Amino acid sequence: MLVVHTKKELDEHLAEWRRNDDHIALVPTMGNLHAGHVSLVQLAREHAERVVVSIFVNPAQFGENEDFDQYPRTLERDTRRLKKAAADLIFAPDVATMYPFGLQDATTVSVPRITENFCGASRPGHFDGVTGVVIRLFAMVQPDVAVFGQKDYQQQLVIRHMSLDLNLPVSIITGSTVREDDGLAMSSRNQYLSDAERSKAPLLYEVLSAVGTDLQNGRRDFEGLEAESISKLMDAGFGVDYFSIRRAQNLELPDRDCDELVVLAAVDLGGARLIDNTVITI
Ligand code: PAF
Repeated sequence: MLVVHTKKELDEHLAEWRRNDDHIALVPTMGNLHAGHVSLVQLAREHAERVVVSIFVNPAQFGENEDFDQYPRTLERDTRRLKKAAADLIFAPDVATMYPFGLQDATTVSVPRITENFCGASRPGHFDGVTGVVIRLFAMVQPDVAVFGQKDYQQQLVIRHMSLDLNLPVSIITGSTVREDDGLAMSSRNQYLSDAERSKAPLLYEVLSAVGTDLQNGRRDFEGLEAESISKLMDAGFGVDYFSIRRAQNLELPDRDCDELVVLAAVDLGGARLIDNTVITI
């Protein structure tokens, strides 16, 4: 497996693969990889002969008081993991490679509406940072397919919207969330949890799943379900940023007849922000 840091090295390998007519898949990450990322690499492999994994902790998507400095950088361990997962190439650029004019003068791509609520409301500028780096990665790698995790449900909708709206020649694929045995969604941020917080954390998915079951069983008092869930989480010591039942397709408010719903949540536990969701097809 190759590890490259510059656009020149990346271009050399991509050119060789393209000469062979290999399809190329991209799995964008910020590193500190876990089994969830490995499953995205495996999914990518089903769609392409070559799999590129980018590892870049993107400063543009972190707010001023967020965990950019603290975010774990573990390239050596990530490289061992990706070798085992049979990725072909890691692209680990520096900030100047990704933002040649500097962060202040970086071109932004803003997706409207779908970015307004939820993580977009709590993390101003976050999705512009995500779309900005993802479109740069798409331009550099020119992948046939790109794979994103369902855990970041709003993010994958935003990237789908951007790609369709700008006619980007890449298919977006979403990989299922991988969970610990107790249901907690795998996340690089889980390691911020203390032992006590870690043992509480699975409640988030329990509550999401319970709402999923209630919806499947015909409950349609969305606001009541949200309020009950928020109380359960707050009683257990979670700070709730949002807990919401929405249309899976576009995060708009659903009506009673909507047959594809997503239940989305973001909570604070200790200093860690955890997000998760469940999609319900009725
Ligand atoms: O989901 C992530 O890890 C990041 O938001 C992404 C898509 C790699 C962009 O930096």
